[in-house]
Amino acid sequence: GEGGVFDQRQRPLRDLRISITDRCNFRCTYCMPREVFGADHAFLPQPELLSFEEITRVAAIAVQMGVQKIRLTGGEPLLRKHVEKLVAMLAALRTPEGHPIELAMTTNATLLAQKAAALKEAGLHRVTVSLDALDSARFTQLSDSQVAVERVLAGIEKAAEVGLAPVKVNMVVRKGINDDQILPMARYFKGRGHALRFIEYMDVGNTNGWEMSEVVTGAQIIQTLASEFELEPVQATYYGEVADRYRYVDGSGEIGIITSVSNPFCGDCTRLRLSPEGQFFLCLFASRGYDVRQLLRQSASDAEVAAFMMEVWRGRHDRYSELRGQGLAPMHKIEMSYIGG
Ligand code: GTP
Ligand code: 5AD
Ligand code: SF4
Ligand code: SF4
Repeated sequence: GEGGVFDQRQRPLRDLRISITDRCNFRCTYCMPREVFGADHAFLPQPELLSFEEITRVAAIAVQMGVQKIRLTGGEPLLRKHVEKLVAMLAALRTPEGHPIELAMTTNATLLAQKAAALKEAGLHRVTVSLDALDSARFTQLSDSQVAVERVLAGIEKAAEVGLAPVKVNMVVRKGINDDQILPMARYFKGRGHALRFIEYMDVGNTNGWEMSEVVTGAQIIQTLASEFELEPVQATYYGEVADRYRYVDGSGEIGIITSVSNPFCGDCTRLRLSPEGQFFLCLFASRGYDVRQLLRQSASDAEVAAFMMEVWRGRHDRYSELRGQGLAPMHKIEMSYIGG
């Protein structure tokens, strides 16, 4: 539809990304380095988190305002107890035209094999799995966990089997760290029916010590893939699609490239983010949030919550990825593990 609410750059609100926990069982070095997120790290206490009822209330209002797609993220969303209950509550939402919304989740898949069937049953449509290496030693090193890569791969297969499909697999590529895994990952996922997406490494958060020299650009990734595979570009399927898609000429599937650094996509960024304790963030790189929880807990009416959400979105002008490198970076950015990518 053409209705809805638009920001300062005429971008409609279409997607809501909801982070439901700041916890994760991985310690990916670029996201939750163990030096920072150690045994004594203070995660949010349970009462600070939005309840499932509060999340669903915000989501329902967002859907009334034009949101058509909801993604659950974390931290690791499957660590939140009874997450399938939340999925069922969100799956029941309908757009003003009476259509269901698209409901997805981004997960590290360690708990996916055991939870896939319940998630599907509850109404989740599909999952995206983060996986940065296929080699088991490398995987262990990068995720800084005791989880075997086979467990993640089994989670992916199980998700596809129960119909949480198409499964997308996200690989964040870092030069000298895992770029040698590009071809092994492509070989493994080619022909399996899952869409592998290569992601340019971004300067999110404050702890990953990001440097431009660690970025492998989408063009370089395509060049590496072209040494072994014949690929052709595919037209974008929806407004605001983040990945540039390519198909294997031999018909064995698709890959995607997410060029947030070399070719930013802020121009049609339609994403609103909701943090675990109920703050709206207008950008992955935002330095401040807008607290909706206090409204919810002061028994504001739906109309009041809607007015707040509308005001926040209408004031939005964020386009960090387009400004990167112009020295305009905010001093303190939100952590990726907290806002969920
Ligand atoms: P689908 O296309 O629906 O499958 O999802 P998606 O690609 O929007 O979401 P996903 O969580 O899989 O994100 C893929 C990668 O793109 C991650 O590295 C995200 O951090 C990144 N990403 C997603 N949204 C944004 C965004 O608004 N800005 C930037 N800079 N990166 C984003
Ligand atoms: N750059 C790019 N992608 C990142 N992700 C986490 N940190 C970064 C980063 N610095 C990815 C995760 C996940 C997705 C939501 O964001 O691997 O797949
Ligand atoms: Fe956890 Fe994902 Fe961050 Fe890795 S990138 S630490 S799996 S939230
Ligand atoms: Fe959207 Fe901010 Fe990402 Fe640009 S940098 S695409 S505005 S979230």
